[in-house]
Amino acid sequence: MSRRSRTSAAALAALALLATGCADLGSGVRGTPGAAGLRDPYFPKLGNGGYDVGHYGLTLAYDPASGRLDGTAEITARATQDLSAFNLDLAGLTVRGATVDGAPAAYNRAGNELTLRPREELPEGAEFRATVTYSGVPEPITDADGSEEGWLRAPDGAVAVGEPTGSMAWFPGNHHPSDKASYDLTLTLPARFEGLSNGVRTARRTEPDGRVTTVWHTPEPMASYLATVVIGRYETTTATALGTVPVLTAAEPPAVAGSAALRKEVPGILARQVKRFGPYPFSAAGVVVTGNKSLDYALETQSRPLFPADSFDRSTLVHEQAHQWFGDSVTPKSWRDIWLNEGFATYAEWLYAEEYEHVPARTRFERAFAQDANWAFPPAAPPSAENLFDPPVYQRGAMVLHKLRETVGDRVFDGILRGWAAKYRHANATTDDFTSYAEAVAGRDLDALWDVWLHGDGKPARP
Ligand code: TRP
Ligand code: ZN
Repeated sequence: MSRRSRTSAAALAALALLATGCADLGSGVRGTPGAAGLRDPYFPKLGNGGYDVGHYGLTLAYDPASGRLDGTAEITARATQDLSAFNLDLAGLTVRGATVDGAPAAYNRAGNELTLRPREELPEGAEFRATVTYSGVPEPITDADGSEEGWLRAPDGAVAVGEPTGSMAWFPGNHHPSDKASYDLTLTLPARFEGLSNGVRTARRTEPDGRVTTVWHTPEPMASYLATVVIGRYETTTATALGTVPVLTAAEPPAVAGSAALRKEVPGILARQVKRFGPYPFSAAGVVVTGNKSLDYALETQSRPLFPADSFDRSTLVHEQAHQWFGDSVTPKSWRDIWLNEGFATYAEWLYAEEYEHVPARTRFERAFAQDANWAFPPAAPPSAENLFDPPVYQRGAMVLHKLRETVGDRVFDGILRGWAAKYRHANATTDDFTSYAEAVAGRDLDALWDVWLHGDGKPARP
């Protein structure tokens, strides 16, 4: 038998297994399968064990009229153990086929877990390439707190957002923030729609059938919750920031004219933030202001944050751009560390208001101190997934940083902020990494500060 026909025999056998609903995969007792989750304290099944993704190549075609998505995900990864099978996270959609290193791989689905079994076990350390072709009408995912993410359709397009778990609604992957990877994304749409994603747009071409394809390149590591696709009637503008960084802004009617002035401020605000936080971590910048009513919060999608039209204001812009350093470049190791995103981005708003709008950070601190909602739990330990984006994470997180600043002084605090962004640039970090780092820079133990402001239950006697 030729190699080729053996391959198709294996593929047929795999199909037959799937057709009969055989449970040979899934719980996967045979061999050394990777774990079905990374035991995140809030989402134990999110992400997968046994491999580390280096790159996602996503090729997507979308039809806004029917809502149908056709996708191919090409995932380049390295096995971190001998791997007889491994999982990807995927919600809904229909898998049409899967390969590993070019050979058909058997696959199985159970809940949001897609299991691939390569024909031969992958040895620890091996680099491999998995492809999954899939299609269907992607659906939103409802968060623990009731907000919607994933694939959010509008009458005239869609936006894809993924914090904390929505990215599995539109591509299979290792959807935990601890596994960052570079991306290339190719998006084909009917010509009357504009499509955008993260990073630099490297090509735009018309297909023989009249559809338009754009290609997006994100060379820096990106957590999958920060990946985005934006489809609609956008109008775009380009500019340059920081001398060399291409800026692409987009807005959808009816927000085009109303957002134009603030979109023009993007380069200037970035330049001010570079002075505070150090070098901008990405090779592209910009914003998207969407008219899509299904999105009800702004999100720091990497290199190109996304705003509902009614929340595109200066302080939200400062917040989402600050996330490019704190959240996108320095990314939480697990969802428990979310205050490293939201506390920092909120404090970035306070710093900006202090420096450019004559509102001392101490005033913002006292205002936050006075609000009961900010004392529901300590920022380092949200009680459940439904509290990840609650006021204590944002406001009390920012209060921790303000107390740190008052304790160590402005000059040392400045060094901590910039040094933190530099030390963990393009990497992941935990709350303990931050407290250790701050103590190392300050040259002193700060346990009393952390015990009360970061970890303590309830409100201290005095601000
Ligand atoms: N991270 C977003 C911000 O800039 C907010 C956010 C993302 C959010 N996902 C969410 C808020 C889910 C509530 C629920 O602050
Ligand atoms: Zn935020």
